[in-house]
Amino acid sequence: MRIPIIAGNWKMNKTIGETLDFLKILSQELQQSSATTKFEIVIAPSFIAINKMAELLKDSPVKICAQDLFWEDAGAFTGEISAPMLKDAGAKYVIIGHSERRQFFNETDSTVNKKIKAALKYNIVPIFCVGETLAEREAGKIESIIATQLTGGLMDLTANDVTKTVIAYEPVWAIGTGKTATKEQAEEVHLMIRQMLAKQFGQTNADVIRILYGGSVKPSNSKELLSQPNIDGALIGGASLKPEDFMGIIKSAM
Ligand code: PGA
Repeated sequence: MRIPIIAGNWKMNKTIGETLDFLKILSQELQQSSATTKFEIVIAPSFIAINKMAELLKDSPVKICAQDLFWEDAGAFTGEISAPMLKDAGAKYVIIGHSERRQFFNETDSTVNKKIKAALKYNIVPIFCVGETLAEREAGKIESIIATQLTGGLMDLTANDVTKTVIAYEPVWAIGTGKTATKEQAEEVHLMIRQMLAKQFGQTNADVIRILYGGSVKPSNSKELLSQPNIDGALIGGASLKPEDFMGIIKSAM
């Protein structure tokens, strides 16, 4: 049984105060619903809000996610944040290899791989993002792009490590653009990812790995996307910033 994850990626949005205001509303809404018995609800705020969020949520099922980490534990790496620091602050998940990090901060499959290993070493669940650009899709390269990202990102991981990892398929052309993959387009790639994982790590292991879809998910399209057999949840950017939209997606998933 794969427990679906509904995750909000807030990117560079919300102050600590705004984070806490949102969470108070979300917690109230969740108390009146059985959502947290069916899904893992995850929020990725800015680094500086993680610790306050952990204090506020100490009795809540809502889980905290970081948006990145650095692979070394400690040392002279100005500006970076390590897995043990995140663990200590209360993060249970971490997004790794988001397309914005690949595009603006030069992340490569090899740095992504080091980051995934660092997260796993500290029992933080990596949410490992893969996805093709529009040009790559139009050139018929989806399969080779995803295969390269998966192989590079998961290099030297054991099957056991990979079952603790969450994959997020986020077609770059659908992120923040309002263009969502259709449920057929998304399911096709999710199935392909699961088959690639099965080939490398065995079908039984591939069957327990959660694969989230991300890219302009909103209350109006979440139901059809989430009802696909290989879509095990959503990674939501823009529509996770307002409690009513985020709750709308959770409700649609019910
Ligand atoms: P979006 O972002 O929902 O705003 O498209 C998704 C993401 O980048 O994770």
